[in-house]
Amino acid sequence: MLASEIRSRFLAYFEKNGHAIRPSSALVPADDPTLLFTNAGMVQFKKVFLGMEDAPDGNRRATTSQKCVRAGGKHNDLEQVGHTARHHTFFEMLGNFSFGDYFKRDAIRFAWEFITEDLKIPREHLRVTVFHEDDEARQLWKDVANVPDNRIYGLGAKDNFWQMADTGPCGPCTEIYVDLAHMAPDWAFPKDAHGEWTNTEIQDYSLDAFVEGAEAGRFLEIWNLVFMQFDRQQDGTMVPLPKPSVDTGAGLERIAAVMQGVTNNFHTDLFRPLIAKVEEIVGIGYPYRPGVGLGSAVGKDGREIDPASFRVIADHARATAFLLADGVFPSNEGRGYVLRRILRRAVRHAWLLGRREPTLVHVVDVVIETMRDLYPELHVRRKHILETTRAEEERFLTTIDAGMTRFEELAPAASTQGSTTMRGTLSGEDAFRLYDTFGFPIDLTELMARERGYLVDIAGFEQSLSAQRKQSQDERKSRQITVSADDFGDPTQWTHDQQHAAKLGRFVGYDVTEAETVVTAVRALPDGRVAVMLRETPFYAESGGQVSDHGTITGAGWSVSVSEVKKLDGRIAAIGTATGEITFGPAHAVVPRERRHDTERNHTATHLLHAALRHVLGEHVHQAGSLVSPDRLRFDFTHHGPLTHDQLVAIEAQVNAGVWTAAPVNTRESAYADAVAQGAMALFGEKYGDVVRVVEIPALSVELCGGTHVKNTAEIGLVRIVSEGGVAAGVRRIEAVTGPRAFQFLADRERALVQVATRLKVPMAGTATNIEQIEKKIDALIDERKQLEKRLDEAMRGGASGGGVAQQLAAQATEVHGVRFIATRVEVVDVKALQALGDSLREALGSGVAVLGAVLADGKGALLAVSTDDARDRGLRADIVVREVAATVGGRGGGKPHMAQAGVEADKLDAAIAAAAEIFARLAAAG
Ligand code: ALA
Repeated sequence: MLASEIRSRFLAYFEKNGHAIRPSSALVPADDPTLLFTNAGMVQFKKVFLGMEDAPDGNRRATTSQKCVRAGGKHNDLEQVGHTARHHTFFEMLGNFSFGDYFKRDAIRFAWEFITEDLKIPREHLRVTVFHEDDEARQLWKDVANVPDNRIYGLGAKDNFWQMADTGPCGPCTEIYVDLAHMAPDWAFPKDAHGEWTNTEIQDYSLDAFVEGAEAGRFLEIWNLVFMQFDRQQDGTMVPLPKPSVDTGAGLERIAAVMQGVTNNFHTDLFRPLIAKVEEIVGIGYPYRPGVGLGSAVGKDGREIDPASFRVIADHARATAFLLADGVFPSNEGRGYVLRRILRRAVRHAWLLGRREPTLVHVVDVVIETMRDLYPELHVRRKHILETTRAEEERFLTTIDAGMTRFEELAPAASTQGSTTMRGTLSGEDAFRLYDTFGFPIDLTELMARERGYLVDIAGFEQSLSAQRKQSQDERKSRQITVSADDFGDPTQWTHDQQHAAKLGRFVGYDVTEAETVVTAVRALPDGRVAVMLRETPFYAESGGQVSDHGTITGAGWSVSVSEVKKLDGRIAAIGTATGEITFGPAHAVVPRERRHDTERNHTATHLLHAALRHVLGEHVHQAGSLVSPDRLRFDFTHHGPLTHDQLVAIEAQVNAGVWTAAPVNTRESAYADAVAQGAMALFGEKYGDVVRVVEIPALSVELCGGTHVKNTAEIGLVRIVSEGGVAAGVRRIEAVTGPRAFQFLADRERALVQVATRLKVPMAGTATNIEQIEKKIDALIDERKQLEKRLDEAMRGGASGGGVAQQLAAQATEVHGVRFIATRVEVVDVKALQALGDSLREALGSGVAVLGAVLADGKGALLAVSTDDARDRGLRADIVVREVAATVGGRGGGKPHMAQAGVEADKLDAAIAAAAEIFARLAAAG
């Protein structure tokens, strides 16, 4: 049975049983910045389970086929993918859900009926596990499904109690297993396997044998039925949920393996076309024969290769396609970092198969083609997915190449093949340099080293790695302190008020901009300024792109004008110039409301802009940097190519629409631990500390952010984008102004327009410029200019009507020895105009020679001679004429027989023209 049929039968079965088929949600959870990726079918229903939301459309039964990614979290098994039969980064989870509707009995009945009657998996090859305290479930398996007691195994909380996080909905679960030794013809026991679990003659295994068999992959878990019963609290207590519910998850890839009789998920029809593509691209066969199993593969250089590389590429192509489709963009942090690691791991494995060019992109294309009907986002974003994959592959391949050269030096290949003796050890430092400079993951280095008979000093590598981590942490700390003094944080340099020495100082600036407080510590800085710590401080210290507050601190007989605010081990220090002697005791701290409010408008507007960019350009948009100051906001984001005018207009309109809905800006704090438990937060950890602050503008934006914001988007007033441009490959920058600055920006524009109106002599319409009049005036000017150009052109050419300059000149020609001739001075601005006039005159003359002289706009004198064809044939060539005429006043020139020119001094022009008649007479007489 094909995977697609399993998927549709599953959904149809549950639909028939009253469940609404719901679409898969995106891989990036919509309103949960704390969860890295959607990792189970229940994620989109979390709030329903908790009783915070009603069941969608009031239907308390739902079923889905959900896109899931499990990578990069606390259960980080990325490095195992491809080496085992069923680890995946991306997979599809089939599920049925009851929101306070049916419970254990029906959940068990549905699952059993679907498996044994729809899929027709023989009951004797099924086993189940239950939570060992859940006697009810055990009894139900016997009553509802007729499963004999000795095929029901009770396991502990580690296996049979499911929770999506340290807190939140959870409950005991029961799991269904299939015996692959009977279901998959290619099942093979490991070489030295022995004991009860390897016996295929018996039906009833002891608990130990079952567990051993499950670990070895003989008994394969295909379905998990969770009985959502509790809401686990921070302190560990279990509060019963308002309505017990059901959340089940069945891995499509696993069921496909069972139904297709293969042990390995990668040998199902879900992966076969992908592996076939890899074979085609790398030109090596994948050594699997249906019903027989895996053989060994040989690369082009005759060396054995690990077939796992085929599976890695196939798996990672799916994750890459789906993550890119859902807006994740490769980067160095968060979700983007996980994607980058997946992409690079695939490139590495293609490299091991001998490829030196992009490979994954071709497999990604097959993923799109084979799954686009079910997941149209793949098709919609096809171009973006392929371009990004290729670019990322190319970039990493360059690095690998450089690293390989270095590796060759460190671990030269043996001169004789097949030597089994160890030839040396790669030092931890060298392995670290390969990692740090060339991005070689340690396992790649180890693998390549092993192939060449080298060991790698892993402990040394780890040491270098943690030394570097510490160093960069220190650097980060010192970078925060621009006061330059390394000793800024040196406690001995600070004078503390003993009474308050232990106090951390509380940031009260989220709520107020003024505080009556006391000074807790002071120190003088080498640059003449002072740093002051307060018990409560309204001063925001620069972070998350938002600049420091300014303000004043005033005490008895002293004050400090604050120009910079820094964080020091979590304490906030205000830095500025002091007047008077600072004393411990009461102090009044003030942040000017206006400056802060301007900054807050820009910060909230940044969140709205971020959301609008993603909405208009696509989910691949990802913040790459930001600056929030009182004057303006600057936002860098990932996107290929410049934005069109239409896109910018749409983005600006959407941001302003968000402003005008007057939406509240809500902030809440969430424990970092909550986030970690959801499998993601190691990546956010460094950045966000123990408690994460969530800033939410309902229906518009949710971000983790420590900055200060307006209370309501309406306070922003207006947002105006003032520039858009590129800052690096694939990164764009938008600058914008808000509130009073946006008004100022528009007022400045209007003033410039007034200037224009004044120059155009367009009267004002009340206080505003009369734009329509300006437009009309400009159109009239443009028209007029066109007319003038046309008339000028005609005049130059002697006029279409025959009354032009050339005609007049031709009429003045006299006959000299039977040839018409004229020499005269004309008014033109440049040589081009002189030539144009000469051309026209040549035509107007019909037969003859003309010499024209002019002082051009640049002050230089110029002579031009033209000669008609018949005159030329008589030897009266323009070039000869002009040369001789010019020579009379010391000028020089030349050109063609029909037209030639010369430069002469302006004040000798008339003399030259006067000489022309005589020279021409002589030439004509001779000719
Ligand atoms: N939510 C359960 C799981 O992921 C069904 O296994």
